[in-house]
Amino acid sequence: MFPFLGFGLGLRNKHFKEILATTPKVDWFEAITENYLGLSDTSASDSIEELLKIRQNYPICLHGVSLSIGSADALNANYLKKWKSLIDIIEPEWVSDHLCWTGVLTKNSHDLLPLPYTKEAIANTVTKIKQVQDFLGRRILMENVSSYVEASFSEMNEAEFLAEVCNQADCGILLDLNNIFVSSYNHGFDPETYLDKIPWQRVGQVHLAGPTDKGSHMIDTHDQPVREETWKLYQSMLRRYKPITTMIEWDDKIPPLTELIGHLDVARRFVNQGVVLAP
Ligand SMILES: [Fe+2]
Repeated sequence: MFPFLGFGLGLRNKHFKEILATTPKVDWFEAITENYLGLSDTSASDSIEELLKIRQNYPICLHGVSLSIGSADALNANYLKKWKSLIDIIEPEWVSDHLCWTGVLTKNSHDLLPLPYTKEAIANTVTKIKQVQDFLGRRILMENVSSYVEASFSEMNEAEFLAEVCNQADCGILLDLNNIFVSSYNHGFDPETYLDKIPWQRVGQVHLAGPTDKGSHMIDTHDQPVREETWKLYQSMLRRYKPITTMIEWDDKIPPLTELIGHLDVARRFVNQGVVLAP
């Protein structure tokens, strides 16, 4: 469903000038949708002109954080219109957001909140993903979020929920392996059993990141190197399927670009070493 773009990084404005000046060895970049929408409730500050200049040398994907696809609220028409206009300008390879809810009654919590894994939530979310895809005229990717609590009335596990939503909505999956690790640690499940349930042909992109270890739980801070457990999941993914477009997310205490590229090269090496046993 989605081409292999190679190994990318999250586009962060502290690196803009260096990227434009040096054209570093990164295959593609992921830009945060909301940074370019000019919405009043976000700190939209990144320059679309700079993004277009970077676009001349790199494929770009757009990654959103406030679609709130799982909310019981109707979709935000204003958000969708602005998103579509941005897509028309940037012409991204694909667009993604999270399988979660971020607020209710038009209030944005700015948190990616986990859904109850129920048939009712599947029906609501599938309907809304289809509406988004019809409006944008393209398939979107939904990302699994990390979580710290679960609804006591869930009827299935998270991986089954993710697979069912994406199969029914006919959308793609952005699989965040760090989020799987964080949630598996916090809730005490085996992350390999999560990978067992994934419809791999739908996975267009992988996120890697590093959480903060609090001992009793992991916090999804995106300010640390990718952990050994997550690299193991990456290798497991390669054994199960084939190389999937990969990206490292680093959102706080952002290191120099060269250091990020060094982390990305670990993923490159895993793929190039041929851990691949594609079906
Ligand atoms: Fe992610």
